[in-house]
Parts: sequence; structure tokens; C-alpha cells
Amino acid sequence: MHRFETDTLLQAVFKDGYELEADRLESLYSKSKRHQWNAELDVDWRHFDPEADVLDRRHDFLSRLTCVNELPEDQQHALFKGASLFLISQVLHGEQAALMTCGQLVNCVPDMDGKFGAAVQVMDEARHVEVFARYLDRHGRRYPIDPDLQSIVQALMTEADWEAKCVGMQVILESVALSFFRLGERIAVEPLLKQFIGRVHEDESRHVAYGVLTLEERIPQLSKDARVRLENWAYDAIAKIGGRAGKPAFQSQAQVLAETGIDLETFLPRFLAEVAHPEDLDLEGLSDPMTATVIPNLLRVGLVPERLLPGYLAQGFQIDLATRSVRDVHTFHPDVRAMRGEFEARKLDFSDPLQVSQAA
Ligand SMILES: [Fe+2]
Ligand SMILES: [Fe+2]
Repeated sequence: MHRFETDTLLQAVFKDGYELEADRLESLYSKSKRHQWNAELDVDWRHFDPEADVLDRRHDFLSRLTCVNELPEDQQHALFKGASLFLISQVLHGEQAALMTCGQLVNCVPDMDGKFGAAVQVMDEARHVEVFARYLDRHGRRYPIDPDLQSIVQALMTEADWEAKCVGMQVILESVALSFFRLGERIAVEPLLKQFIGRVHEDESRHVAYGVLTLEERIPQLSKDARVRLENWAYDAIAKIGGRAGKPAFQSQAQVLAETGIDLETFLPRFLAEVAHPEDLDLEGLSDPMTATVIPNLLRVGLVPERLLPGYLAQGFQIDLATRSVRDVHTFHPDVRAMRGEFEARKLDFSDPLQVSQAA
């Protein structure tokens, strides 16, 4: 069993002030209390189909590859199922991180509304850990935490500044989770997963709302230095999770391949050749979490500055600050290629927000 520890220093805030002042946070807390559900009793655990696909194949990037579509059906089934269980395993580990970080927020968020909101979310996250762990037990397969995810989780746990913790967890990771669950409701194929994924989605929407409501008013009041730090923090997390800044995200997913019985010697070269040319692939209908939820929420709380736009563009995200909108133009768009060329010519690494600032 994989385990890691991190030491963390937190400033815990106690205030002799019990007024709930933020109306919108208060009503969110009230709603959360009414919408609690029980993973043990409200899910019919007998309705499980071990033979079925877990998620709809068409929503997986792999389904767009010819080398995958030409595999025999039993190997395709093993591949898609393995990829789904890998993804759900990372979701489970992310849920544990949310449980822990949110417990920290109860201590370090200064106002009572914020503490209440975090506290009720702790219960939600415990339920999510429970439901996904049970679900993977049914399949008898759980993958370990991916090293990229682990480094993000460790950074979140050790972050001393509560606003940065809140941006990282509530705005970025929760938004990634939200985009998955939003799809999940439509794409869950296996009947047991189909039963509860919608309820997890409802909970996660409240968590993102909590982050946005907490930060929307807070961020404009921060000092310039504190704000720059958060903007960079967010940029760095997107570069890591989005996998579009030089290195693909979640490389440990490759272990799924080894368990499928696919002849890797012939498959891998074809696979790599196809993914090297995404412009030739049909990506219609595949949604990117960064474009769908993460960047729009960062725009809402005001954490996408002009100076980082060249770096976002180099990752394929065309952002318009005036309309607060983002378009996924993918990494093969001519403007994206031109921007990457500029970074390269100036020997600057666009995965690093400090270097992106230098370019602006
Ligand atoms: Fe969760
Ligand atoms: Fe959550």
C-alpha cells in the first residue's frame, strides 16, 4: 500500500464572532445540510455489472485512435475498462485530498460562514471517498495515486496561505472533478456507477460554488504580491494537470496498457505516431476540463492576468479578458504554434509562470 506524509504548518483562526454575514454562503450551507445522502443505504449495491464497460468509450480520447479501433474487441474492452478504472482511482485519491484539505480549511478560514461551508464539505468528501472506494472494491482493481497528482496534493496540504489553498482545492481541483462528474452523468455505462455519479456531481457543484463565493470578494482586496502569487499558483497547477505544457499529464496511466494483453511492440509505435499529430484526429465532442470549468472559474474570481495570456495561449487556451471567456483552440492552432515558437526563440519555458511573465 502506497503511503506518504507531509508536514504542514497552519494558522488556525478562532474568533469570538458567530454572525453569519455572507448571505450566499449561508444559504449554500443550508442547502448542503438538506442534500446529504447516505452512500451505504441510498445506493443499491446489488446492481453491479462486472462485464459492462464502465464509461462510454466515445468520450475517451483513446476511442479517436485508429490503432485502438483496430484492436480485437476483448483487448479494446480491457483497455477502455482499465482506463476508466485508472481515472476513477485518481478521482478517489483526489477525494481523499479534498477531505483532508477541507478539514484544514475549517481551521484556517477566518469567518464563521467559511468554517461552516468547509465543515459540511468535509462530510461530503468522506462520503465520496466511501462511495468510490467501495465501487473500486467491487471491480477488485484500484490504481495507485499518480505522481503528478501526488505532487499537487502535497503542495496543497503544505500551503500555509488559506486563500491559495482555497484556490488550489476549491477552484482548480474541484472544477476538474466537476467537469468529470458532469460528463460522468451522461457517460456512465455501468449501472451501479450510473446510480450515484449524479449525486456526487450535485455535491461537487456546491463545492465549486463555495470556492467561487469565498474568493470572488476576497481576491480584489489582496495585496499585489499576494495576488500575483495566487495567479502563478493557478497557472502552475493548470500546466501540470492540463498536460499541455511540454509533458503529458498522468503518465502512470501507461500501466493500464501493460494489463490488457495488447502486443505493445507493435501497438506503441503506432500509438505514439498518432498522438504526435492531434491535428489529424477527430476530437469533436471531447471536452477539456480546463476550458469547460477551471479557467472560466479562475476568470470569475479574477485570477487570470494579462501577463500570463501568452502562456495560456501556448497551451491552446485562447482567453478573452473583456468577455471573460475561453476557447480551446488545441495545441495545433497556428497562433498557438507561433506563440510556442516565440517562447522557444527566447529560450523561455512556458510551463513556468515566472518565465511567461518575462515574455510579456
Ligand atoms: Fe468530492
Ligand atoms: Fe468536492
